[in-house]
This record gives sequence, structure tokens and C-alpha cells, in this order.
Amino acid sequence: MKTPVAVLISGSGSNLQAMLDKAASGVLAADIRLVLSNRADAYGLARAAKCGIPTAVVAHGAYPCREAFDAALVAAIRKSGAEAVVLAGFMRILGPGFVTAFAQRILNIHPALLPSFPGVHGQPDAARHGVKISGCTVHFVDEKMDHGPIVIQAAVPAHAEDDGKALGARILALEHRIFPQAVHWLCSGRLSIVGRHVRLAPADVAPADMSGLGPCLVNPPLEQGF
Ligand code: GRF
Repeated sequence: MKTPVAVLISGSGSNLQAMLDKAASGVLAADIRLVLSNRADAYGLARAAKCGIPTAVVAHGAYPCREAFDAALVAAIRKSGAEAVVLAGFMRILGPGFVTAFAQRILNIHPALLPSFPGVHGQPDAARHGVKISGCTVHFVDEKMDHGPIVIQAAVPAHAEDDGKALGARILALEHRIFPQAVHWLCSGRLSIVGRHVRLAPADVAPADMSGLGPCLVNPPLEQGF
């Protein structure tokens, strides 16, 4: 049985698209019930509509405070029947009211190797710092920004000539692989949290075909279909 999920976006929705593609190919244990944006002009809404997935806009500016915005989000997600939440480029900080409503059932993707370079400028911050390796992180969401227990990370080389855009493009290709995989693990009931550690229950699945990805390290390794 698939787990009903809501995907929250604020922009282009390329990570959403990666999930829609996996859902269409039948490998994803998630049933995407709702795509919700805080911005009416988010292109991801059109991506969802093209796949016949219900969409909603909850504009943060329409609410007097963060608590009221969070409550409106929770209500819209509950109405959709979703039991888990995927933050795919959702550019608002969620307060304790939201986090406790879906405790241990919210995943976020961040375009850096956490705990390095949290915040909204992960890729340019890493490029400017001169790191030799960067990457992306899928983590459970807790009350602190870019902080919760880590599910999966992918590392890619960073080069001296990289700006945030060049490094970001290399990272994004891996985001599109690890995020659907992490959502699949969550929705399959294979993740458990022990302190800061996320345990992945083993399954009899072959490793993924990583050819064409370029130099990278992904841990835990991707499985077939992802
Ligand atoms: C991604 O880089 C993600 O890591 C960050 O926001 C960006 C969203 O991109 N949180 P998209 O909307 O999925 O294309």
C-alpha cells in the first residue's frame, strides 16, 4: 500500500518532477495527493496539474503570523489525506505547530552537505568557501532549520572555477536521485530514528545503475529504480 503524501514547493519544482516521474514509473511507495505552494506563480504547480495532481496555494502573506500560516498548511494537508510531507524547495520556515502535526514524517532536501552551509544560499556559500566536495542532504525536519536527522547524502566534486550556479547544477542532478529514494524509504516504512541517527531497514533490492552520473558518492547507496 502507498503512503499518501503532500509535496510543498515554492518554485520550479524540478525535485517534484523527479518524484512525479518515479511515481509514473510505478516504483515510488508514495501516493502524491497534493502539491501545495506558498506562491501562486510557482512553476511546480503546472507540473503537478499536468499529472492531474490536486494543487493548492497557501500564500504566507495572507496570514497575520507564522502560527496562522502553519495552521492553514496543516489544515490543507490533512484535508488531502496526506500523512507525510515532502519539502521540495519550500522556502518558508515551519514552526513547532507544523512540525509536531507531522512529527517524524517530514522530509526536506538541502543543497549542501549538512551541517555545512545551511540556509538559503547553500551552493554559492560552498563555492565561495572553496570546498573541494559538496553535495546534498535529505533529512527529517525538526524545529531548527536544516537540522533534523539525516536520511541520505550525496557528495560531488567542487572545483575552483565553480560559481554557485555551476556547483548547484552538479548537486541538483543528485538531488533528483536521492530525494525520491528517501521518500520511497519513508513511505515504505523502512526508516527509523534513533537519536540523531536514521536507520534504514534492509531490503532485498539490487543497487541502482549509477552510470552517467559522473563522480559522486551516495550513502546509503541508491537502490534499483532510483
Ligand atoms: C533545490 O536546490 C533544493 O535543494 C532547495 O531548493 C531547490 C529547489 O529546486 N531546497 P526545485 O524547485 O526542486 O527545482
